Amino acid sequence: MSSKAAGLPPTFNPQQASRMYDGVEYKDFWDDPAKMRLDKLERAIVRKLLPVSGQRILDLGCGYGRLASCYLERFEQVVMLDGSITLLRQAQETIEERATYIAADANRLPFRPGSFDCVLMIRVFHHINDSQVILSEMQRIISNGGNLIFNYCNKLSVRQLLHWTLRRTRENPLTIKPTGIGTRLISHHPAQIEQLLKQHGFTRTKYLGAGILDKLPADTERFSSLAEALTPLFGAIKLAPWINCRATLSSEGQIKTSQRLDDILVCPACHQELTRQAFTYYCRGCEASFPIENGILDFRIG
Ligand SMILES: C[S@@+](CC[C@H](N)C(=O)[O-])C[C@H]1O[C@@H](n2cnc3c(N)ncnc32)[C@H](O)[C@@H]1O
Repeated sequence: MSSKAAGLPPTFNPQQASRMYDGVEYKDFWDDPAKMRLDKLERAIVRKLLPVSGQRILDLGCGYGRLASCYLERFEQVVMLDGSITLLRQAQETIEERATYIAADANRLPFRPGSFDCVLMIRVFHHINDSQVILSEMQRIISNGGNLIFNYCNKLSVRQLLHWTLRRTRENPLTIKPTGIGTRLISHHPAQIEQLLKQHGFTRTKYLGAGILDKLPADTERFSSLAEALTPLFGAIKLAPWINCRATLSSEGQIKTSQRLDDILVCPACHQELTRQAFTYYCRGCEASFPIENGILDFRIG
């Protein structure tokens, strides 16, 4: 499959993985009938998995804000974060001042512990090389009892199983280790995801599967409803190419999210306090500085 067809950036520098979508016209990926069906289904899934209301949500790897309509009305505060400045600018154009915009690497987040009651991370996990690091960050920034809603590319999908059985690939989908580490597309085994979530304190989980029926050409309302109705089944048997998950962080302890958005920001490099002077944040620990440019807080390092 070409990188355009898969919605992946054409070139990739592993040293700057968080910026891989800079300059990519990601909107174009969704501009074909099959992708529109998948988009519709994904929105329905995200709406189903998101809590009906909350204080503060982080859309991590928000892209151009494709999913914003699913949560804008449900949360008091909305933070859109991405490694790509060009995609953040597009998000800004559509969502405007309803959200706060942050450029940062998902592996080095500029937030205090317990900053969010919900993190949404759709079509991002397959770009993250170290799933331990990202899940540790999720455990750190989500408040107790808060939710992580994310999806992952399933290495155990029917398609992968067929390819392997027909010897079109040597990658054994039954083994638990992820495939594609160091590339643009990493696939995970459902058992590894469950293990990782448990290790990082996420207890209750709900899974919905997508990417099977929406690939077929029929585009009737009834067919869309059927694809949506079958997501719990595809989530339970874990053979769909995309598995969407809501995982809830254990509610023990007392970490509460702070009301003011400025209060949750810390240095992404050393997690020390920041001071703000005009359009720059300065770290009181390592003395790094982070500019605010045209409404985007730029916490990227390097
Ligand atoms: C496939 S797009 C998905 C965008 C959006 N979540 C959606 O579903 O439409 C992946 C997004 O994740 C962002 N991304 C990938 N790796 C990242 C990282 N390490 N830190 C921050 N953003 C990252 C990309 O810039 C891109 O916007």
